[in-house]
Amino acid sequence: MTQGRAPGKVLLLGEHAVVYGHPALAAAIPRFVTVEVAPSAAARIELPGIATPPDVLQAAVEMAREAGWAAAFSARVQSEIPLGSGLGSSAALGVALARAFKPGCSPGEAAGLAMLLERVLHGAPSGVDPAACARGGIIFFTRGEPPQIEPVRGSAWLCVLLSGIARGTRSTVMPLQERRKSDAAVDPLLARLGELARQGRRLDNLGPLMDEAHALLRELGVSCPELERAVAALKAAGALGAKLTGAGGGGAAIGLARDEVHAREMASRTGGFAVQIGAP
Ligand code: PMV
Repeated sequence: MTQGRAPGKVLLLGEHAVVYGHPALAAAIPRFVTVEVAPSAAARIELPGIATPPDVLQAAVEMAREAGWAAAFSARVQSEIPLGSGLGSSAALGVALARAFKPGCSPGEAAGLAMLLERVLHGAPSGVDPAACARGGIIFFTRGEPPQIEPVRGSAWLCVLLSGIARGTRSTVMPLQERRKSDAAVDPLLARLGELARQGRRLDNLGPLMDEAHALLRELGVSCPELERAVAALKAAGALGAKLTGAGGGGAAIGLARDEVHAREMASRTGGFAVQIGAP
């Protein structure tokens, strides 16, 4: 039996824009997906609480083959990240599976293998999620073949607040792709989101950048009433900046804290949880 583990992630800035070639700032969070893989007569994945969709199993079989795992497998998955919460559960699952199939593989290899699963779940993923889950820390990411990934030095405390709405990434990425074809207002908003990610990479003024990013994402139509309430609750608890994180339409919001004490205080006031991102 082999085991693989990978953290979830948050998008600090640049979600959606990153799909169209703009940069994004993403960070791993200390909430993990763990996978145990053992040889078995027929391929099987046990996900916590849900039946495994056939296309997910198919993608995992493809990953196993690419990773050089010879036999059929049975995989048992444990997750500290709620599925569909916008916190990178699918990318973390992909990276953890890659590490179980190919122990000792590099972050680049693990992220590459995880893309097989991302394509099934996301449609046209930028690759930022598996890159963040495979590398850890904070990264400045631009899509490409290969993607450009720069580690960002520094750390921050966040409060993560779930909206309570589970959803798939496709549910906002695909409609935005459609809207972009006929609405000339979309591209400048995406470009500005990418610019905010560029400005945010020094981590010294994240709060106002996050606030502006949330307003832009709302204008792009990827927020929802539950996320608006989550962002308002984080701001009311003193967040230096707050926004939806990831694809939107549900999932989670993040609020930037002054420090650990503030992050924990925000968490207890809002019902969220405090996380440190990056390395202090
Ligand atoms: O799956 P999520 O919620 O982490 O969203 C990923 C970020 C997007 O930019 C919306 C999609 C992508 O592929 O980059």
